[in-house]
Amino acid sequence: MLNKYNKNTLFEFAADVSRGLGDKNKQLSPKYFYDDVGSKLFEKICIQPEYYPTRIEYDIIKTNLKNITKELDLPLSLVELGSGNSKKTFLLLENFAQLQKPFAYYFPIDVSHKILHESSNLLSTVINNLKIHYIHDDFFNGLKIANDYIKNKQNLAIPENKLVIFLGSSIGNFEPEQAKSFLLNIRKNLKTSDYFLIGFDLQKDQYVIENAYNDKNGITAMFNLNILNRINKELGGNFNLDFFEHRAFYNNKENRIEMHLVSKLDQYVYIKYIDKSFHFRKNETIHTENSYKYTQKQIEDISKDAGFTIKQLFFDKNNWFVLSLLKPI
Ligand code: AVJ
Repeated sequence: MLNKYNKNTLFEFAADVSRGLGDKNKQLSPKYFYDDVGSKLFEKICIQPEYYPTRIEYDIIKTNLKNITKELDLPLSLVELGSGNSKKTFLLLENFAQLQKPFAYYFPIDVSHKILHESSNLLSTVINNLKIHYIHDDFFNGLKIANDYIKNKQNLAIPENKLVIFLGSSIGNFEPEQAKSFLLNIRKNLKTSDYFLIGFDLQKDQYVIENAYNDKNGITAMFNLNILNRINKELGGNFNLDFFEHRAFYNNKENRIEMHLVSKLDQYVYIKYIDKSFHFRKNETIHTENSYKYTQKQIEDISKDAGFTIKQLFFDKNNWFVLSLLKPI
């Protein structure tokens, strides 16, 4: 492991919760979904029949493995932002391990220690010539740590050039302007000999999208509500999860899925660590997530604005999702 996730995070979480619940339009950042419990729930979302992005992205990678590799100048160190359980990455890593002897190098970056541990253990047992240096941190600290490690390599076999990947359409969580600065920031951390592979969820029939965030097993609802549990556990809140309800709908004007937690009644919630009570009117909501859906044109524009050219776009047969292979200009 290359880093210890710092302790300031609890303080930051408290400050964000205090600010977010104090707002006229109450909100919490979706980044707080992913504690160990939330990360596990997210893995379960990914196998729900209604949640198409994971399945489709996996299929795109599987079908295009040769075409993707063909575009790359190997050897490359593979760096993954928000690696999760690495199921999709497994396909790429297996391929890299075949092509890069004696070893392929993988730098997964994630904020969940448990997930990193489990996926690294699994990967190293199924791919034996893989070296994993996992990084427990957020994306940009993590990317810097990987960069430094690769630059000051003790081990001469570590490839100097990188393929950075950001799968799952997580970019959808950013506001369009933030998405651009996110890409710009990635660009700043790449050399022209590096690559960036990123998944975007595309605009489509809104009912398909709404179903994906309202699975009938209620896993997305549990995932959404878990953020309140996390406040209870880490900040000494007294949220009663029975008094809130999951809501997800497509906002046509903004081209995004919105997730909210709806207060079922008029209530106060006390949070010990912040030493504050928050009032919730009946039907008042906490806005917990936006997930933007893109058009090809938007992807082309944002990539160009951030200093990338598109090497290739890989679609599924219905054009529901696209994997974009970008190259810094
Ligand atoms: C991880 C941000 C891509 O927006 O689809 C899944 C998160 N939220 N179900 C998404 C999520 C509810 C997911 N991303």
